[in-house]
Amino acid sequence: MSITGTDIERARQLLGRGKLVAIPTETVYGLAANALDTKAVLSIFEAKNRPTFDPLIVHSYSLEAIRDFVAEIPEQAVLLAEKFWPGPLTLLLEKKALISDLVTSGLSTVAVRVPDHPLTLQLLRSLSFPLAAPSANPFGYISPTTAQHVVDQLGSKIEYVLDGGPARVGIESTIVGFPAGVPTVVRLGGLQVEDIEAVIGEVKTTLHSSSNPMAPGMLKSHYAPRLPLHLLDREEMESAKPTDATGFLFFQKPAHFDTYPQARCLSETGDFREAAFRLFASLREMDQLPVREIWAEKLPDRGLGRAINDRLLRASVRNADSIHE
Ligand code: TXA
Ligand code: MG
Repeated sequence: MSITGTDIERARQLLGRGKLVAIPTETVYGLAANALDTKAVLSIFEAKNRPTFDPLIVHSYSLEAIRDFVAEIPEQAVLLAEKFWPGPLTLLLEKKALISDLVTSGLSTVAVRVPDHPLTLQLLRSLSFPLAAPSANPFGYISPTTAQHVVDQLGSKIEYVLDGGPARVGIESTIVGFPAGVPTVVRLGGLQVEDIEAVIGEVKTTLHSSSNPMAPGMLKSHYAPRLPLHLLDREEMESAKPTDATGFLFFQKPAHFDTYPQARCLSETGDFREAAFRLFASLREMDQLPVREIWAEKLPDRGLGRAINDRLLRASVRNADSIHE
């Protein structure tokens, strides 16, 4: 039997038996298990080779359903959930005892989200439990945006990949917490900070690092390709000499694009959404090129451009301790 398909019933049965199933979402594919089954959750960490100090996101189908496992929801969180769920937004909320410490790495908050994908929403509605799901990639590597990406890297470790086509948004959800009641973005992602601020006013942004215990999993080195990656300004990219040894990842198409032996561009017209949609697949593709390194163009630092730059910056760090923020 093929490991990929659109059989929700099969996914439902496997998950009910404590097995792992990869699920499509609008951001990236997730590696899902029953969030209330500790053994099943443990197998997520094992399959990804992920340290257990890196907590998981719990997925459900509605704000109402999420009330079953969170203790309280600040008013601003309700406003955001009502406006952006289903969608690329994760909220950090105080957990109920039902959610184990394994899921939250011992933190008192649980990360929750309602993903915007018809297959996964239907699956979630058919289950009597929520799904814990990190991105379905080996720990530290580029997140998967197609079912094939998941099969290529974790195929031997999971029973089924629910194939929902290429992920529409292409980068992970934006994570918002409420430490001391202050809305705080702790991971930039598929929902622009500007859109959040339009609903609840100005928010703080505390971008996480390996030394920030509030966000233990947000390591400086992450989303990393095999090849060394360097992040450059547009001017530096445009003045770089085309060479066989370097793969160039442009944001917009430069005038002399065809003179580069190995080059890709995220969006010919400079569209942030298109760039996010293509980011991880392009990085994977470039990682397979016969080059020694990748040079990537930094995007304008606004909207989704900020989230994409965040991913490129982390992809450029080889050693978590070698960069000073
Ligand atoms: O778009 C997404 O968010 C995808 C899809 C599958 O939903 N999921 C995803 O999960 O990106 P993951 O595990 O790759 O990233 C979740 C991040 C981790 O860096 C983790 O440290 C952080 O969320 N996180 C989870 N629970 C947290 C908590 N209680 N406090 C702070 N950070 C938390
Ligand atoms: Mg991840």
